Amino acid sequence: MKISVIGTGHVGLITGVCFAERGHQVLCVDSNAAKIRKLKRGEMPIYEPGLKEIVARNVKAKRLSFGGSNGDAVRFGKVVFISVPTPPRSDGTADLSYIEQVSRDIAKNLKDYRLVVDKSTVPVLTGERVKNVITRYARDGVDFDVASNPEFLREGTAVEDTLNPDRIVFGVETRRAEKILRDLYRNFKAPIVVTDIKSAELIKHASNSFLAMKISYANALSAVCEKAGADVGEVVRGMGMDGRIGHQFLRAGIGYGGSCFPKDVSAFEAISRDLGYDFRLLTEVRNINRDAKEWFLRKIQEELWIVKGKKVGVFGLSFKPNTDDCRDSVAISVVESLVKMGAKVSAYDPQSHKSAQAYLGKKIRYARSPYDAAKGADALVLLTEWDEFRNLKWSRIVKSMLHPTLLDGRNFYDPKEMRQEGFTYRSIGRP
Ligand code: UDX
Ligand code: UDX
Repeated sequence: MKISVIGTGHVGLITGVCFAERGHQVLCVDSNAAKIRKLKRGEMPIYEPGLKEIVARNVKAKRLSFGGSNGDAVRFGKVVFISVPTPPRSDGTADLSYIEQVSRDIAKNLKDYRLVVDKSTVPVLTGERVKNVITRYARDGVDFDVASNPEFLREGTAVEDTLNPDRIVFGVETRRAEKILRDLYRNFKAPIVVTDIKSAELIKHASNSFLAMKISYANALSAVCEKAGADVGEVVRGMGMDGRIGHQFLRAGIGYGGSCFPKDVSAFEAISRDLGYDFRLLTEVRNINRDAKEWFLRKIQEELWIVKGKKVGVFGLSFKPNTDDCRDSVAISVVESLVKMGAKVSAYDPQSHKSAQAYLGKKIRYARSPYDAAKGADALVLLTEWDEFRNLKWSRIVKSMLHPTLLDGRNFYDPKEMRQEGFTYRSIGRP
């Protein structure tokens, strides 16, 4: 099948390349010409394990190409995916102006039947608006369907998540749209959930908010554990064995970040409010997430007493491991606070120095290695749990630091082992 993807970002690029991998003909367009030029040269605009190889393979097989206008996308694909950003406004609501603009472009270029599928995370009722926009700006009588097909990929495992999803959700209004989407996903082995468009839109926001709630639950629990002298890791291990609860997304830490959870929780709260329901549970999810970061900063202050002038070594800047994405990264936010308090920060991240610079500029030093970051530091702070930070030569690090204090924001290390190595060690909700 010929398909087009408008918006070649984290979501759009992975979606496009995975459809190509499953045998479809895919055109990816993007309003950012520099990004398209890069992709044409075989350079990836983002770091994602396995992405470069799978793009190269599908370009070579002539199933995947990049570039052109939104109009070209409409002419090329029988199915047109929209995956442009839906950034948060200051009141938490999603800014849908890119979606509207793309819908108008689609309308203007519509000549015969197209299935327009929304991949972006959008508030419930957006599908209806897209349909109205296309109807208003397209030629009279032109035939099209609108559908919602939310994406559940996680950064860092995006290719794997997209090729082998837990479930595929279609929100459709017509049999024809459902049939096209079923054909499109024929080579994906996953259960398919077919609903109306509004329910599909809600599945995405409800899922992300629920996962964020699990994390905030673990973080609130960690505060109780800390006061009681219990171990949050043990508590969630015991809880997770109950099949109704499960082990995933119960890791306590400095809080969730990234381009999805913070934005989606706020957006879902705002949508509910607009519809007349005050979703207070989500307000608390956000508050607890903010507190998680503050509690961690307080621990750093307790150890250093006066932060001003102290040297802090930092491990990790991206919002989670295996990605160079620093959007809404709690690690970046912790570093910003440290800098504000007058700390001299030397940070190392395996992939994210370039993307972190957009936020931190020259306010910190970008270290060449974990050892370089720790050298001469008054404290070492782990903010993102990259594998590379697992097996380091700790005796070398302990010796090179001014004072061997380790603050673990992700409960990544074993407290006993780290204390044996000679660190003053603190983590989240563990004795
Ligand atoms: C974005 C949204 O943040 C998310 O809610 C939605 O589910 C999918 O789109 P992501 O792919 O991570 O997620 O965003 P980003 O990496 O910023 O990519 C969006 C791309 O769209 C960018 O490459 C941007 O240049 C492009 N774009 C934006 C267009 O092609 N046309 C536009 O009008 C606006
Ligand atoms: C998320 C959803 O998981 C995915 O389904 C959706 O499509 C997009 O949003 P992503 O943002 O890539 O994916 O990352 P995810 O692995 O969900 O982590 C989000 C944040 O939560 C990270 O900052 C991570 O460090 C944090 N997290 C995750 C925790 O603090 N504890 C956990 O137990 C799990």
